[in-house]
Formats: sequence, structure tokens, C-alpha cells
Amino acid sequence: MRNYKKAMGLNMGGIAKISFCLTVLLLCWGPLLQAQEEFNYDESKVGAYTLPAVLELSSGRLVSGNKDWKKRRTEIIKLFEDNVYGKFPKKRSNIHFETLKIDRHALSGRAISKQVRIYFTKEKKQPYMDMILYLPAKVTKPVPVFIGLNFKGNQSIDGDSAIMLSEKHPELLKYTKAKEQQLIRGEQAERWEIDTLIGRGFGVASAYYGDLELDYPEGWKTGIRTTLKETLAIQPQEWSAISAWAWGLSRMMDYLETDHQVNKKQVIVTGHSRLGKAALWAGANDTRFAAVISNNSGEGGAALSRRWFGETINRINTNFPHWFVDRYKTYNNNATALPVDQHMLLALIAPRPLYVASATEDLWADPRGEFLSAKNAEPVYSLFHKKGLGVVDMPATDTSVGETVRYHIRTGKHNILLFDWLRYIDFANENLIKIK
Ligand code: GCU
Repeated sequence: MRNYKKAMGLNMGGIAKISFCLTVLLLCWGPLLQAQEEFNYDESKVGAYTLPAVLELSSGRLVSGNKDWKKRRTEIIKLFEDNVYGKFPKKRSNIHFETLKIDRHALSGRAISKQVRIYFTKEKKQPYMDMILYLPAKVTKPVPVFIGLNFKGNQSIDGDSAIMLSEKHPELLKYTKAKEQQLIRGEQAERWEIDTLIGRGFGVASAYYGDLELDYPEGWKTGIRTTLKETLAIQPQEWSAISAWAWGLSRMMDYLETDHQVNKKQVIVTGHSRLGKAALWAGANDTRFAAVISNNSGEGGAALSRRWFGETINRINTNFPHWFVDRYKTYNNNATALPVDQHMLLALIAPRPLYVASATEDLWADPRGEFLSAKNAEPVYSLFHKKGLGVVDMPATDTSVGETVRYHIRTGKHNILLFDWLRYIDFANENLIKIK
């Protein structure tokens, strides 16, 4: 033992020195290492970062016009597929629709509602998703439609007792008595503002995201990533929950294209929070969506990943490992190595209208990071002579800025409320409706 210590150059004094050095190292590096893990809500601590160039082709050449952008766009989609969300399957399987219910006197006669089952294979059986569509009752011509997934089943978006109860929502399945089930109706109605939208001449389409994949790490085992594995010729690990949800939005669009009461050139995809992430990815892949709205989508959505503020890549991957592909986890605590940042996702929407919205108390989603992301997507809109935010700094609270790219930060919490919807209606009217 003595010899061994000697050979190693160790004695009690040596050991004490080593422990001392280790302690000093830990004291100095500990906070730094930890700092990356923890969440920062202090703007002065954000630090410097460099965003990947959205307008530089992988060859190093700068994008000089629309044609070049097409090439760059393809590259960026591939980078997001490989590193963040996984594939967005192109093959549509054997999509077909069945209208299960039509109510011509919905919402006290103000609306028509249609409940449509979207089947993903030739058979009329699972897997499928159920969509509810409200249209203004007095439609004389095809109407613009906002579409978005919901968190708690279609029956949660309005108290309307005609809405079929979700077959998949785990909480709902716990209730057995019809009366108890009724309690869950309209649970998230404040997030949908259907009356307002109908009154302003818009349709609204929604479906439960759990119809595609239940939102927990093992959800893929019963969701479409498994059930459509053969049909779509894709392995579950090649895509992610966010991709599966986004793909579902495109299938809703497939139906809307067939409905003569819908203006298929004016379908606006929206989403709140994690469903905002899905809406952005759907809008990036599927250019049939005429405009895209991200409401408080935060990390992995509109917010820049390189900004150390609010949620981090590490945290989102730890809490929600199923949302992204495995490779995304290699960027935990190493956002700099990521070949993309979220301004590039927003740029994929160009030249179509894009709205990014934040909320003052939603620091977790990094409002400034969402604003800066939209700002950094502007050069791509400029290529198409479209006007972006038109400001350098974040606007005053509750004020929207911009034209084709628009932004606001609402007073209050992480949510989607009437204030937001009213801005989205104006945005759609100004950008889509008047431009025929
Ligand atoms: C969590 C998650 C966010 C997500 C949000 C939501 O807070 O960390 O990334 O946007 O849930 O979907 O409500």
C-alpha cells in the first residue's frame, strides 16, 4: 500500500492537496455547470449567441432569389427532420372521410356543425381521428377556416351537447356515468371563442391530439406512429409525437379541401403551446395552409433555442422525450451544435402570413426569444417583398406589430384568449381575405 502510494506520488499531504484542488474546482465549475441546467429568467444573463444563417446554402453560397430559396428551404426541412422533429410522412395512406353528424342549428342557430371521422386506412375502423367543424349558418360562399388541435377532446372546446365525446381522452374514459361526462363539456371553451369566430364569418375546425398519439413517453405504442407503421412505411423512431400531431393537421386539411363550404385557399393553422409547435411544423411542411399562427409555442416552437432563457432543450427533452427525435437529445446543454434554430422554422412559412404571439407572464416560453425568432425570419420574407415586423424592439404590451409577419405580447398568462383571437381575425382579414 505504502509502495503503491509512493509510486502514485501520493501521501497524506498529496491526498489533502488533491481534495483541496477538487473542492476548488467544484466550487468554481459547479455553478457554471449547473447554470446550464437551470432556468434563467434574467435577461442580463442570457449571453451572446450566433444564429445559423437562414439564407446560406450548405455549399456556403448565399441565397440570392426565390429559386435559391427553394433549395435552401429543402435543406432546412431536412435539418429539422434529422435533428428535431423527425419525418413528416408524405404518403397519405388511404385517407377517407365519414360525416357522422350534421347539426344545422348549432349554437342556437348561428352555426352549422359537422362531425367528420377521418380514417387513415382503407377500413372504417381505428386508427382514425374525429374532427368537429363549425361554419357560420348563413354561408353563401366558401368561408375561411381556423384549424387547430385541442388538448382535451372535441367536447372540451364548447358546451354544445351535440359534440361527440372523445373516445380517446384518458380522463374522460375514467367517467362512466353520462352525467359525469357532461361535466367535462366546454372545459376549454375560453380557448376557442367559437361564437366570436362564427360571428366574424370564419369557420373553426378542431380535433383531439390524442386521437393521433397520446401525450406521454409511451404514447407512440398505441398511436399512429405504431398503427400506421406499415401503411406509411416509416418506423416509430423516425418521427416524433410533434410530427404525428402535425401530420394529423394535414389530414384535417385533406377533408377541408373536399368541403364546398370551406375556402380551401384560406385555411389558417393555429395552435397553443405544444400544439403551437405542431402547428408550425405542419405549416412548414404543408403549404396548403394559407397562414400559420403560433400562440405561446415557446421552446421547440417559435422561441430561439440558443437564447438561455426559460425552458431549455435539456428540460424539454427530459420532461417530454417523445416530442422530438432522439438526435435532439444530443443537443441538451449544447444548443450551439444544433445546425438550425427556430427562426429557420418560422422562415419555412414564408411568403405566407405568420403570426407569433406571446404572453407577459409566460416567461417559460421566452417571449423575447419568440419575438427575435420572428425578427430573424424577416430576411426570407424580404426575398418575396413581404413586410415583416417593421420594428427592431419588442412592441408595447397588447399591441400587435407587423404585416405579413406579425407579433404581439398579451398581458397575462400562458393561454389563448379572446384578445389573441381578435388579433388573429384582423390578421386573417388583412392578409388573406382582402387579397383574393
Ligand atoms: C410545458 C412545456 C412547454 C409546452 C407547454 C404546453 O410547459 O414545457 O414546452 O409548450 O407545456 O404545451 O402547455
